[in-house]
Amino acid sequence: MSRSTEDYLKLADRLADGENLTDEELAGILLSEDPEFDAYLSQEARRVRERVYGKDVYLRGLIEYTNYCRNNCRYCGIRAGNRNAQRYRLTEEEIIACSDAGYELGFRTIVLQGGEDPHDTDERMSRIIRRIKERHPDIALTLSIGERNKDSYQRMFDAGADRYLLRHETASPEHYSLLHPAAMSYEHRMQCLRDLHEIGYQVGCGMMVGSPGQKTEHLVQDLRFLQSFRPEMVGIGPFIPHHDTEYAHCQPGSVRLTLRLLSVIRLMLPEVLLPATTALGTMDPKGREKGLLAGANVIMPNLSPTSVRGKYLLYDNKICTGDEAAECIRCMTARVSGTGYQVVQSRGDHVRYDADGESPA
Ligand code: 5AD
Ligand code: FES
Repeated sequence: MSRSTEDYLKLADRLADGENLTDEELAGILLSEDPEFDAYLSQEARRVRERVYGKDVYLRGLIEYTNYCRNNCRYCGIRAGNRNAQRYRLTEEEIIACSDAGYELGFRTIVLQGGEDPHDTDERMSRIIRRIKERHPDIALTLSIGERNKDSYQRMFDAGADRYLLRHETASPEHYSLLHPAAMSYEHRMQCLRDLHEIGYQVGCGMMVGSPGQKTEHLVQDLRFLQSFRPEMVGIGPFIPHHDTEYAHCQPGSVRLTLRLLSVIRLMLPEVLLPATTALGTMDPKGREKGLLAGANVIMPNLSPTSVRGKYLLYDNKICTGDEAAECIRCMTARVSGTGYQVVQSRGDHVRYDADGESPA
């Protein structure tokens, strides 16, 4: 169905009013080529974001502490089967030193991200979490270490972890099994997300935009999933090929579609924490700024030691692999100011959680 600009603007208004659009209307929004509509949609998304979070932008200091991974996601550069990946694993002391450095730089959220490294026992993770939280009780600690069982998630939560990022990657079971080998299951991924919420984590899910085989209807399914799961955070970024994967020659995802999805997600989930991701910044030198102007309110600068930065490569041409953490934060603060927003030194919890990270009863 072809729509006029006026039709599109009405759709944006209805989304902003919290109305539930039909699948066909959502697909229409994602497929639109109308620049006037893009401008209007992002303006509405900014209005909603400013109503909930003002002009604040929260920083998350990302420590990519291991690139060992037992999985073989077809799109990912650190998949187990990639013999060319140079593997590294930070020691416990290195992780602590990194989080101390992050704290000194003003970060009040630290994210421990890694592949699914068999070395990461519950004991090791719990010990690291406890040590970081003892040293810096006023930070939020986020984990992004993949699929584990509920007991393991519970133990790390009890050790002090506050949040967990686990992208669902795609809400279509068929598309999920195209992107992942048979050893990984859509059902288990979804079970993990439910377990994390039940335990009390603030949970982030999300998908790649333009991953191989993705159709508009899959993105509509992703939006429906987000509506029903109600995550506290949603991380989305364009798919970017990695030269050592079978998708080396696939087309990357579109920046424009990613921005439009950021706006739609902001309007559907007004309170969500929405990062302008590194993948977006990799595809477009102004990608993260554009993300903020499309409704995002979080940036995740890299805190990993420079010696390992160039090895945590999920996709090609990743930005910021040569910079010191202090340089990254300076650069990001300036970039954020340029958009009219401001970096704040705060945990940046979801509004449903109070300052202690506790979920209201
Ligand atoms: N392009 C873009 N994003 C990727 N991710 C993994 N590989 C790629 C790629 N080639 C994303 C996945 C994963 C997150 C950590 O990074 O969505 O969950
Ligand atoms: Fe590591 Fe997918 S290759 S989680």
